[in-house]
Amino acid sequence: MKSSKVKILWPNGKCSLAEIGTDWLKAAGDANVEIPLGCLGGSCGACEIEVEGKIIRACIAKITNKNSRLIKVEFATDPYWQ
Ligand code: FES
Repeated sequence: MKSSKVKILWPNGKCSLAEIGTDWLKAAGDANVEIPLGCLGGSCGACEIEVEGKIIRACIAKITNKNSRLIKVEFATDPYWQ
């Protein structure tokens, strides 16, 4: 039976498990990872994260299954996160 959970590797080195379809902000909160927020509507870009090399806006995106059991997340280019 195929699991609907994926393992997420966060920029701070923490790992967590999350269900496919979970909001990225919820997954981050569950892992005690703080993502910067602004509009919460997908227009400001404050919450951008890099998921497997692709920039997404965490406030409007859900975790999708790309047949990967481990999803690596980086924060976008804001030097605050370097
Ligand atoms: S908080 Fe503004 S785009 Fe996500």
